Amino acid sequence: MCGIVGYIGNKKANPILIDGLLALEYRGYDSAGIALIDNGKINVFKEKGRVKNISLNNNMDTATGNVGIAHTRWATHGKPSQENAHPHMDNSKMFAVVHNGIIENYSELREFLKKKGYHFDSETDTEVIPNLIHYYYQDCNNFLEAFNRTLNDLKGSYAILVISPLFEGVYVAKMASPLVIGEGNNENFIASDIPAILSYTKEFYFLNDGEIGYITKQEIKFYNNKLEKIVNEKKVIEWDKNAADKDGFDDYMLKEIYEQPRAIKETLAGRVVLNNSCNFPDLEIDKNYLEKIKRVYIVACGTAMHAGLVGKKAIEQLCNITTIVDVASEFRYNKPIIDDETLCIFISQSGETADTIAALKLAKSNNAKTIAISNVLGSSITREADYVVYTHAGPEIAVASTKAYVSQVATIIGMAIYFAEILDTLDKKEIEKIKTELLDLPSKIDKVLDNTKEIIDIAKNITNETNAFYIGRGNDYNIALEGSLKLKEISYIHSEAYPAGELKHGPIALIENDTYVIGIITNSDICEKTLSNLEEVKTRGAKIVLISNVDIVNEDMIIVNIPQINSILAPIVAIIPLQLLAYYIAKNKGLDVDKPRNLAKSVTVE
Ligand code: M6R
Repeated sequence: MCGIVGYIGNKKANPILIDGLLALEYRGYDSAGIALIDNGKINVFKEKGRVKNISLNNNMDTATGNVGIAHTRWATHGKPSQENAHPHMDNSKMFAVVHNGIIENYSELREFLKKKGYHFDSETDTEVIPNLIHYYYQDCNNFLEAFNRTLNDLKGSYAILVISPLFEGVYVAKMASPLVIGEGNNENFIASDIPAILSYTKEFYFLNDGEIGYITKQEIKFYNNKLEKIVNEKKVIEWDKNAADKDGFDDYMLKEIYEQPRAIKETLAGRVVLNNSCNFPDLEIDKNYLEKIKRVYIVACGTAMHAGLVGKKAIEQLCNITTIVDVASEFRYNKPIIDDETLCIFISQSGETADTIAALKLAKSNNAKTIAISNVLGSSITREADYVVYTHAGPEIAVASTKAYVSQVATIIGMAIYFAEILDTLDKKEIEKIKTELLDLPSKIDKVLDNTKEIIDIAKNITNETNAFYIGRGNDYNIALEGSLKLKEISYIHSEAYPAGELKHGPIALIENDTYVIGIITNSDICEKTLSNLEEVKTRGAKIVLISNVDIVNEDMIIVNIPQINSILAPIVAIIPLQLLAYYIAKNKGLDVDKPRNLAKSVTVE
């Protein structure tokens, strides 16, 4: 979704802003723009389409100015167009603003401003912001006060940057949309996402909801909404800049698929240790509390929700606690039964997913303990939850989530083992066995990644298909769901995931000659049953690809063998060939795998 970058220092702002916008391209957008203060006036350059269009169409090399703000827009109010692209200015061209989020009461504010004589050049909700600032500034002649009065009028979500020839720096504010400030040496940076400015600094301040920041090249000041000065803590991000580069791979997605063994090692490091209790120091959860828990809710969206489904199996099987998984956008409307005997776990790679954050707020207001599992330090969800467990997967840039998924699954299984140790629900030998297998996952993934030829060949056969089915039972069904999501989001092939036994209750009607059905079998206890379901579709003409770690000989199926592992952990290994399959099919179709159509990396609207 929309991305923001800001710069103030002694260097030319333009290349730094463009560089930041390019780093944010993965979020998904349809127009982009920059505003610079140059010789006491604001210059705005904006275009529909890609970031490169701004430079191509505007002779940008000549653009000077050491202060600037920039934006990539993912259209919500008003079509993708040059007029609707950010930055937006007030009628007097005194203030330029970039904004992420949605101003819910913009129509009302627009009407108010129109009555005061203001006109609007775009269809956006954002354009009310610079004009309101101007309106209040006329009244009080003090920018900070005018800005604060404007913010008090806004309903909805925002991360806002403002520049003006009236002041030297950049004013920023946020409410339910991410914003970070990176500290440099005689220069400072602002961004909606850390990777945009990671090549310039590793020292970051995080703005909290309702706060205002004023950033000059030498100073970073913060104010609360009463305009009192406050102090925000500086945090050092350990992410390596190369982690946000393609590092020789054709696409971020492929690079991130290959980073999965390392991501899991980082996730488990220090937490899951053999012959020792698990260690989750940030979770202040004791035996008394866990014994009192009646149910666990796991709430998330998309791939993170699929990780939650695997987590449910682990928590139920290892800790014997009823666990319910819900899609975050549905959670609030499902009237969940939450009280102080409910533990709610929220999973979000970005930590900015609006639906997940809203669900977390609901759980907190009903007195549940909340745990956020996230990949992004200081993200909104981590600041809302009672406890935070970071996945430490490193920056995930491709829209299709891969390494975040495996690290989320590893995190939640690690937590389940930790709870089982506290509750004493499992035999010590069993616990050591599963820990050993968990720690052995990176080498098993490496084995799959070392042998991709088979998958590349299968991908060639599926490339021109329009439909596919993924089936499995138990955790294999959870793998099917995630494999199917990967295929549809990057290859645009319609695919459905079904519990293997459910196919004959309707969807089998869709099986025709040569329809591809991808089966998953990672549990010998249910192997025969899934095999029978595969036979049912085979007899109706389907072509079968089977991902399996059980010894199966069947000449009617293309069988991709993967390493043997406990069925609780199997999704982490079995998902790898399915990620690769989706990737190679999308590549064969010539699609942009990192930035699939209509999708955004972090979904900050409900
Ligand atoms: O940042 P989050 O983990 O909260 O994102 C949730 C989903 O939007 C995300 O997993 C989405 O489904 C991915 N594009 C799937 O690959």
